Amino acid sequence: MARKKISLIGGGQIGGVLAQLIAQKQLGDVVMYDVVEDLPQGKTLDIAEAARVDGFDSSVKGTNDYKDIKGSDLVIVTAGLPRKPGMSRDDLLVTNAKIMKVVAENVKQFAPNAIVIIISNPLDAMVTLFKKVSGFPENRVMGQAGILDSSRFATFIAWELGVSVKDVNALVLGGHGDTMVPIIRYANVNGIPVMELLERKYNDKTKASEVMKAMVERTKAAGGEVVKLLKTGSAFYSPAASAIAMAKSILFDEKRVLPISALLNGEFGITGYYVGVPAVLGANGVEKVVEFKLDAEEQALLDSSAKAVKDLVSDMERLGF
Ligand code: APR
Repeated sequence: MARKKISLIGGGQIGGVLAQLIAQKQLGDVVMYDVVEDLPQGKTLDIAEAARVDGFDSSVKGTNDYKDIKGSDLVIVTAGLPRKPGMSRDDLLVTNAKIMKVVAENVKQFAPNAIVIIISNPLDAMVTLFKKVSGFPENRVMGQAGILDSSRFATFIAWELGVSVKDVNALVLGGHGDTMVPIIRYANVNGIPVMELLERKYNDKTKASEVMKAMVERTKAAGGEVVKLLKTGSAFYSPAASAIAMAKSILFDEKRVLPISALLNGEFGITGYYVGVPAVLGANGVEKVVEFKLDAEEQALLDSSAKAVKDLVSDMERLGF
């Protein structure tokens, strides 16, 4: 069976880690596209030259020509600029929307059957725009955000409780911004509620709630925490790893239930917007949004997160996209 073809649109920080992980995990052959001349060629040459050491057979190639993404099974988009000092949110939105429009037109032309994962920020707007411009069906266009936000939440819980993060399940819903909604009620360690473990640890309900609240706030601000430390650029290892989990579930039809940005049609009371929810990812892309009952407080938080996504999308429409 021929190897799957995976195209990366954007060969910056995240694009580079994606290419290396795809090769190391032998998920398929990689084509990395970037507008910057020689950058994707240089990066992929560097990665390809590790093949002997890492022991992979995947081909990893760079290009400045969209024709080379022809026939891709999967496309992962990280093209876009990070915010620079003095730039408003609208400026970033305009800059990246212009880029995303061109990306979507080209993916539509050269890889019309691909499943597409968007990572570029502002995520909820970018995935919406890609869907609109490409006209691809909703099962084939999704955004990466929730897996990373959930992984961050799980990591903080594991550190707090001194347990393996592999045993922590923690879910974050909503838009990929300050309004995201970590679901405390279902956070668990191998099925045991995290809140019960915190209450036992501190023998004090109030203290346990405060500790959880701090972890929730850290999760919401986790992207910014990394940006502040890095000084130039934003997180790239963890966003790449998160998109790889999505890619793997799709390419190998694993049907994992992963939190992703999916177009909702009434699930969780939201219609017509991309919002972070758990979904089954398989060979057909987003195969099913997994709905479950939220309590009143969780639903109110999700509603306000959806409202933030709606505002972002209407800003984008007001700006002509
Ligand atoms: N087409 C393709 N690639 C482009 C275009 C374009 N029109 N414009 C810019 N790029 C490329 C840049 O040349 C750069 O190599 O996109 C790449 C972005 O890489 P980085 O600036 O290193 O950003 P990265 O850390 O990879 O993040 C990419 O994902 O998480 C989000 O906020 C993040 O929007 C950002 C995106």
